[in-house]
Amino acid sequence: MAKPYPTIGYSEYLKIPELLQQQKLRSEEFGRPAHDEMLFIITHQTYELWFKQILTELDSVLSVFKAERIREIEMGRAVSRLQRITEIQKLLIQQVSVIETMTPLDFLDFRDMLYPASGFQSVQNRVIENKLGLKSDARLTYNSLPYHSFVSEDDRAKMVAAESEPSLFERVDAWLSRTPFLKTGGFDFWSHYRKAVENMFEEDRATVRTHAILKPEEKEKNLREIDAAQETFMALFDESKYEELRKEGHFRLTYRALHAALLIQLYRDQPIFNLPFQLLTALQDIDELMTTWRYRHSLMAHRMLGRKIGTGGSSGHQYLKSATDKHRIFGDFFNLATFLIPRSKLPALPEDVQAKLGFFTN
Ligand code: HEM
Repeated sequence: MAKPYPTIGYSEYLKIPELLQQQKLRSEEFGRPAHDEMLFIITHQTYELWFKQILTELDSVLSVFKAERIREIEMGRAVSRLQRITEIQKLLIQQVSVIETMTPLDFLDFRDMLYPASGFQSVQNRVIENKLGLKSDARLTYNSLPYHSFVSEDDRAKMVAAESEPSLFERVDAWLSRTPFLKTGGFDFWSHYRKAVENMFEEDRATVRTHAILKPEEKEKNLREIDAAQETFMALFDESKYEELRKEGHFRLTYRALHAALLIQLYRDQPIFNLPFQLLTALQDIDELMTTWRYRHSLMAHRMLGRKIGTGGSSGHQYLKSATDKHRIFGDFFNLATFLIPRSKLPALPEDVQAKLGFFTN
């Protein structure tokens, strides 16, 4: 039976002729054809197409998290879209090897023709960072100016608009903060958990004190580290202390959100926490893959430029390397591992509490 739609062919649907018209080599324009410029352009364009797909997924995830209550089915959809983003990121990391087949000398054949263009001006890349939750005050400045100083008015407006909307980090924080807490009837999870962690620190101290190999000064140093870890841990039970540490930048998640994230990590084996756990894992994966891409790109820039400055005017490799660490977004979820204790030491949840966990939707 004929379909109720007009027919269409591959080229027409995908706009292949238009797409293949978009590679204009500056080296040809200026009469000095450089073979590798085609690879350079296609690699960047491919990245931009994947950035567009990442934004499509990210926008749909953000719209799920806008809701006051998130149904399981929507949460499942959000998690699978975040996981799709991570698969794309893996491709983006692999693509660096393709551009690395161009040698620094090949690059020099056309590099002078590109000033002051730079990936630094990629709007989609900035919009992705902003929508995920990278704030401008957490960014490195660029020649002492904000990151959006070197783009057109239009592009700047898009970057700033993405920064002014609630980011995925903030949406997830709000969602975590609505998670019911384990303080029901006679059972107060947090005081049980606190006791279990204090015991763990005591055991660690005993291990250090009775250690057969450590010298006395090494023991002292390790004991001081345990004290410091315990002090940070105690802030989890003292909201004003926690807020102080948060202001100093030790934590980014709000107090309630951090508790919820910890609970999810600790009891992730409970079926009800499974999807939330997958969500937190996907956010960590995105952060780790972004960091990996940044580092990989910085090594590639080092290999390509040595210590030359970038076409966009930054210090080049050094700037990119520093951004690797500085521009992390979901680092708090990684730091939670500090407060995890073995399953065998976790307070057993009374049956009525387990039943209550069944209402974990918010
Ligand atoms: C020969 C290959 C490349 C070299 C030598 C290179 C070099 C650089 C340098 C030095 C910077 C810092 C800004 C500047 O001063 O220009 C930069 C930024 C950037 N580049 Fe590349 N790049 C290359 C390929 C790519 C590719 C294929 C992409 C993919 C889109 C890309 C995306 C970016 C992005 C997004 C930034 C901003 C990073 C940030 O500010 O955190 N670059 N690049």
